[in-house]
Parts: sequence; structure tokens; C-alpha cells
Amino acid sequence: MTPDLSSFLARLDQEIRARADWGKVADYIPELARIDPAQFGIAVCLADGSLHQAGDAQKRFSIQSISKVFSLACVLGRIGEQIWTRVGREPSGSRFDSILLLEQEKGRPRNPFINAGAIVTTDELLTGRSPRDALSEIIAFLSAAAGDSDIHIDKHVAASEAATGFRNIALANYLKSFGNLKHPVDHVLGTYFHQCAIEMTCVQLARVGRCIAGLPGAPQMMTPAKARRLNALMMSCGHYDASGDFAFHVGLPGKSGVGGGILLIAPGRASIAIWSPGLNGYGNSQMGSHAAERLAQHMEWSVF
Ligand code: DON
Repeated sequence: MTPDLSSFLARLDQEIRARADWGKVADYIPELARIDPAQFGIAVCLADGSLHQAGDAQKRFSIQSISKVFSLACVLGRIGEQIWTRVGREPSGSRFDSILLLEQEKGRPRNPFINAGAIVTTDELLTGRSPRDALSEIIAFLSAAAGDSDIHIDKHVAASEAATGFRNIALANYLKSFGNLKHPVDHVLGTYFHQCAIEMTCVQLARVGRCIAGLPGAPQMMTPAKARRLNALMMSCGHYDASGDFAFHVGLPGKSGVGGGILLIAPGRASIAIWSPGLNGYGNSQMGSHAAERLAQHMEWSVF
């Protein structure tokens, strides 16, 4: 199976590069709007310890909302189940930056992967810590999980989002009005924009995902019970209002980001990172979603 995977990834890379429907880069963050959408990379870590990659798998990209999985992992490690008093665990069925349900549900975001929920998670991470220390905690988590200390924040992307992040500013203020934000809005958002601006390669991200996939030999970053819960949330909420469709077509837990990355988990079998910066109408990587479906079908990796 191992040699077959490498040649499959090479074929998939060629097939995707021959297509023209890359989607559209996220233009509401000016620094991301400048990126060429016609790029594709994929890296897969298997349970036997092998790593397979193709295309732009070693190019750094902005992980954006994929960081929400790691801030949640840090918070779960710190305060455990208490976080669920402040944020729910249900799919929202609305866009990642929607404010609609927040009024109806009195300031308790539906889940930790929509922006409002992630802003609450980041607020929790700031308890007893400065923004700098909270960010260091996330970077330390990623470095230890990847076994690679060359993971950084792109300050230009963070500044670019801070200058134009009017929806997140609205969401954070709205959360504050309901008493569901403990720290000053600018501290929480400053931390949130910087965590989203962490840049990684597919190879680094796939190596981090080994801990969530529970692969043998992965660094022990969380208990198996916590990993199961992260997988459940990624399956039900990881692709926002396209989560049902992603589960239908791919059948694996995944988390997307507007930088065009997808972290995909085949529990016990593989950790996969895919990057292609052109997005579909839901804000998820267009070619990344396609590649996830092709890979899962080829390897018969559905959890169903
Ligand atoms: O808060 C935002 O809008 C971005 N920093 C992250 C959004 C995101 O990645 C949604 N993903 N598909």
C-alpha cells in the first residue's frame, strides 16, 4: 500500500494542476488576496511512520481557522469540559463569520470552530496569561506535536486581518455585551488574529495531525478521549455550513481554513494536510476538498 500511495499523490497533483477551476483566494484579508490560487500541496503521515508528499507540500501557508483546533486542544488540556458552558458543540449551518445565531442563543456560540466560538476559546486561553504567552502556548503545542520548531506567525497577515476584521470586531463586541468575553476585546482579537496567521507547511501540519489521528509514535499531546472529541467536532463542524457535504463526500473528520488548508484525519490510520489557496463559496479550499475526496476514496479511509 505504501508505494501505491506515493504514486497516487503524484498522479493527483498532476491531475489537479491540469484543471482550471482553482476557486477564489480569500480577499477579505488583503494579504491573502495576493496569493496565486493555482497551487497545490499534500502530505500524508501513515501509521507505519512513513511520510508521503506531492506538489507544494513544503511551502508555508496561513493556517487560519485550522488554528481553532489547536487553541481548543490547549484549552481542553487546561480546563477540560468547563469550556462547554461558554460554547456549544452543534453545527451552525451558517457561514463561519455569521452573527445571526449569536443573538438568538444569547451570546453562546454554536461551536468552537465558527469565528464567534473560536474567539471565546481564545478568550479562555488568555485566562492568567498575556496575549504573547497564549500565542507561545499554541506555537509550543504545534512545535512539540510536529517535532519541528520552525513554526512561526506571519505578522503581515495578522496586521492585514486586524486592519479589515470588522466582522470579528463586531462578533467580539457582541460576545462582550452578553458577558461571554472576559478580557478586553482588543487583547482577545489581537491574539485570535495572530493565531490565525500561524504559517505552516503541509508536512508540518500532517505531522501535528498524527496526535489527533492517534498514530503510533506520535508525541503524546492529548488523551485518546480528547482526540476522539476533537475528531467528532471536526466531522460535525470543521467545514462550517459545508460540514454535512464534506462528511458525505469524504467521510473523514477535517478542518479547513481560508488560507486554503485542510487538516484531514483518518483515525488510527493517517494524518493528511492539503493546501490549495483557491476557495469555494463556503470558504473551504476548492481543490483541497476535491483532493480529500479522491484520497479517501482511493484509500477507502471513510470512518463510515
Ligand atoms: O477570522 C477569520 O475570518 C479568519 N482569520 C479565519 C476564518 C477561516 O479560516 C474560515 N475558514 N474557512
